[in-house]
Amino acid sequence: SILIVDFGSQVTQLIARRVREAGVYSEIAPFTTAEEAFERMRPAGIILSGSPASVLDDASPRVPQAIFDSGLPILGICYGQQVMMHQLGGQVQGGDSGEFGRAFITIGDGCALFDGMWSEGETHQVWMSHGDKVTELAPGFRPVAASPGAPFAVIADDARRYYAMQFHPEVVHTPDGARLLANFVRHVCGAPGDWSMAEFRAAKIAEIRAQVGQGRVICGLSGGVDSAVAAVLIHEAIGEQLTCVFVDHGLMRSGEADQVVSLFRGHYNIPLVHVNAETLFLNGLAGVTDPEAKRKFIGKTFIDVFEDEARKIGGAEFLAQGTLYPDVIESVSFTGGPSVTIKSHHNVGGLPERMDMKLVEPLRELFKDEVRELGRELGLPEIFVGRHPFPGPGLAIRIPGEVTRERCDILRKADAIYLEEIRNAGLYDAIWQAFAVLLPVRTVGVMGDGRTYDSVLALRAVTSTDGMTAEVFGFPGDFLPRVATRIVNEVRGINRVVYDYTSKPPGTIEWE
Ligand code: XMP
Repeated sequence: SILIVDFGSQVTQLIARRVREAGVYSEIAPFTTAEEAFERMRPAGIILSGSPASVLDDASPRVPQAIFDSGLPILGICYGQQVMMHQLGGQVQGGDSGEFGRAFITIGDGCALFDGMWSEGETHQVWMSHGDKVTELAPGFRPVAASPGAPFAVIADDARRYYAMQFHPEVVHTPDGARLLANFVRHVCGAPGDWSMAEFRAAKIAEIRAQVGQGRVICGLSGGVDSAVAAVLIHEAIGEQLTCVFVDHGLMRSGEADQVVSLFRGHYNIPLVHVNAETLFLNGLAGVTDPEAKRKFIGKTFIDVFEDEARKIGGAEFLAQGTLYPDVIESVSFTGGPSVTIKSHHNVGGLPERMDMKLVEPLRELFKDEVRELGRELGLPEIFVGRHPFPGPGLAIRIPGEVTRERCDILRKADAIYLEEIRNAGLYDAIWQAFAVLLPVRTVGVMGDGRTYDSVLALRAVTSTDGMTAEVFGFPGDFLPRVATRIVNEVRGINRVVYDYTSKPPGTIEWE
């Protein structure tokens, strides 16, 4: 296994993901508990993450000495490189400028990390993001690749099997980064590449059993992939100790609530409480137009209803959630500093503190596509596993302005037509998310001989790998006009359809 020491970079989980992709098991430990994790795991090698901190600050994190003393291979990334140099006798200096974004490195002497992929004299694209930089190497190190801004872009101490790089190999903007990390864990550390989702499933089941013991667990289902996969995994681990609660806020897509109920009761025979709370939610949303106010109301009401049900069920000390890594990263900042709240996600935080329950979050380190893979491994039907992500607050955040039952119904109809056409065209799986947004704007139209004055519908479709960034999906030429015609003809209340061409950033995927 590989130990990843986390110094608080936003992308540390991507390192773990790349290591998983190389077929090697890894664990992330925050630097504060890295030594403990190291003693427990006895890993084949260590990766040191990036960080928002500066080694020039005396209070910034350090690598436990035990890791240097172990004689194991170490790979330092960005801050990881700087902290290695700082602790091993090199020099780091603060830059006035720093380097951010795409850069090109030229391969020099090369080292074991590059075996089978990069050769001397070649130039390769990498992604830099740093303020400080290494200005003098620690004894034993030599430069093996350089960029115009970073003479020590990659450095190596072959005898000790220490490697370090200024850029981030874990992000997609370093096209060969995954191979570099695979080379480190497989070739340098010699870790066997036989880890798979089947092993993740077995390990998580053992972990859930150990955590829960004979305790009772309640799991909130949202209708989405994440909570469904979490519930099925936990059910496999502890069977009848699990009860699922589906708080149906009436803001789901067409037919979705029924699918959840029949999958859990019918297919899996998992105890399920279905609470129809549509009226409660819609009454509370009356007159609410501010996006954050909607999110907060829905989040709070969801908790209230859930809490009531949990009390009725009684005796549960654990709460299960299908929290994924991107939910965690967008909701909190590791270093405890204030990270800007773009949107208050309704599935993270709040609930466990208030209910005094312990959390079971078996998907916390996974990305969406990995959860899908795990779902398939668990035998969930493709219609569930392959489903586009759907936000916790549901259609409420796809109806800018006031949410009413009537507008929800209009949106559901239009959205169903859009998705049906996408499925029929065989495009569903090529798209990360496709949905309709019902705008609080009315425009004039003409149908037959009459004037219409109805709502505008926006269609959105994006591709993404993790929801953190997104590109607009380009439909084949005649697709959107055909969908627009069908929607305007079939859905009363809509007389105009537009397409959203904004990527993320600067847009977000959802409109609110
Ligand atoms: P944004 O709109 O922030 O969305 O670009 C990124 C991804 O997160 C989904 N999303 C949510 N998921 N609870 C969720 O479970 C939420 O409150 C929430 N808000 C947005 C969104 O659909 C996209 O996949």
